[in-house]
Amino acid sequence: MKKIIIINGPNLNLLGKREPGIYGSKSFDDFFKDLTVKYNSFELSHFQSNIEGELIDKIQEVGFSYDGIILNAAAYTHTSVGIGDAIKAIEAPVIEVHISNTYSREEFRHQSYISANAKGVILGFGLQSYELALQSFIS
Ligand code: DQA
Repeated sequence: MKKIIIINGPNLNLLGKREPGIYGSKSFDDFFKDLTVKYNSFELSHFQSNIEGELIDKIQEVGFSYDGIILNAAAYTHTSVGIGDAIKAIEAPVIEVHISNTYSREEFRHQSYISANAKGVILGFGLQSYELALQSFIS
């Protein structure tokens, strides 16, 4: 069974309550429950933190043993050299995801420290972005 982790960055714990016009009205926990049922051929886990260093610790912890990381670094996408370096350092493939289409939003969201070292990038499909990323691990 492939081991895949979804890592979510700052403010994504507020999904469902946070700017629903952009991020939707479903909580991540509800979405994740449905995802684990639908894709029960994967060993799926989820980690969320609002703290940059905790995200880096988790990437390092799973980065040499998991089959893949689905990463929504949220606002740190646009600022974090440290998370970008962590992705460079590990062996597990990383799929960068975003719920919103960051290219149709403010210019500061067009910059990503993740993309250059990600295996691929999926954005703009709402929570389905995570599901599409997961499907990329079906062989
Ligand atoms: C986001 C886009 C980021 O620009 C923003 O800071 C987020 C969420 C997304 O999933 O659309 O927090 O990563």
